Amino acid sequence: MLTQAPKGTRDMLPQDAYLWQWIEQEERLAAARAGYREVRTPVFEHTELFLRGVGDTTDIVQKEMYTFKDKGDRSITLKPEGTAGAVRSFIENHLYAETLPCKVYYLNAPIFRYENPQSGRLREHHQFGMECFGGKEPTVEAELISTLMSLLKGLGLKNLSVHINSIGCPKCRPVYHQKLKEYLGDRIHDMCETCQSRFEKNPLRILDCKEEKCKQIVKDAPVILDCLCDECSEHFASLQALLKARDIPFAIDPHIVRGLDYYTKTVFEIIMQSGREGLALCGGGRYDGLVEQLGGPATHAAGFGIGAERILMELKNQGLTPPAPSVTDVYVANLGADMRIPAFTFTQALRDQNVKADCDMTGRSLKAQFKFADKIGARYVVLVGGEEYERGAVKLRNMETKEETELPLDGAAEKIASILLPGR
Ligand code: HAM
Repeated sequence: MLTQAPKGTRDMLPQDAYLWQWIEQEERLAAARAGYREVRTPVFEHTELFLRGVGDTTDIVQKEMYTFKDKGDRSITLKPEGTAGAVRSFIENHLYAETLPCKVYYLNAPIFRYENPQSGRLREHHQFGMECFGGKEPTVEAELISTLMSLLKGLGLKNLSVHINSIGCPKCRPVYHQKLKEYLGDRIHDMCETCQSRFEKNPLRILDCKEEKCKQIVKDAPVILDCLCDECSEHFASLQALLKARDIPFAIDPHIVRGLDYYTKTVFEIIMQSGREGLALCGGGRYDGLVEQLGGPATHAAGFGIGAERILMELKNQGLTPPAPSVTDVYVANLGADMRIPAFTFTQALRDQNVKADCDMTGRSLKAQFKFADKIGARYVVLVGGEEYERGAVKLRNMETKEETELPLDGAAEKIASILLPGR
């Protein structure tokens, strides 16, 4: 137990760190190009925020939240998604009073869901999300989808498909609820208990049930696209025109309803074609009612969230991970214990010149230091000591060609930097 991470959590190991950093860097650039600025919100929030924001009939709230009482007897929940916290922050910090739209992104926010852990489904994962407040036009969703596709293509990913749907607004959704309830009729008694409890309160959630018997019943249910009001239909048609204008292929998927209650009009997912069924790479949509519902002024909004672990999984599946960069370019070997101080200071001098350098920390013999330098893939070894050092020089050895050059100590760090980082 003591040396086992909790079920459904994962360490990010040093050998994978460069991949995370690379993905993060691409995400930052993609968000910045579209005018989104970073926001960081707490890892935990008051439970009430998610009950009201995400919806008390969703799986996330009913089954998956990490909720506990703090020492002040407040109910606290670890963030099960990023949107509610971003909305709370938008309201609390009066960002609505600034020029709108207000575009924000969060990077690798830890998200906690008590799910059944399996490949691609963790109890702690990390999301990159973009949220746009104050834009009512479908250009917002088109921008979000377009930014996502550029990001994913920039990482090299292929075979991704965009699935879109519209789940209407408070005007037209009740019409659909009625139609759905009529269709379900007596069939509801053959469905799971959760679906039965959602029948009156939130029938749309029934479409999201993962139980096989329920899925069979809802697969022929009427679709909400047939019940959209004029405004929602026009919005959906305009979004399609925008995606076509940008040459982004998409599929209309009337079965996407998403697992959170706040969505209105557009919902979308990006599906990995090589991935397992039910695993979306990304999900998002419009949520025009949420800011007001949480106590802010009526504000149009839309966004998406994408899991870092799923991006990494897909990159690995598609064989697209770039090779790891070198950890150390220059290893500074000492020719004896009395040379440890000069070797250390020379290593620091190289680092001051932006060279990735390292030296012995374990009291290794010269032979063992060379072995170590080879193991870590150092391109050069600098030898500090012996006759050269007495003459005020060091020896530079190219580990590939085995060629050795003597360099005057004065200016040696700069010279090595100019070899390793030409044109800097
Ligand atoms: P979501 O679809 O629940 O949406 O999650 C977004 C993404 O997070 C998923 O597509 C997936 O990449 C990743 N993800 C979700 N659950 C897990 C898990 N258990 N393990 C690993 N990765 C996971 C939301 O959370 C919304 N807040 C998205 C949004 C933002 N909508 C509007 N704005």
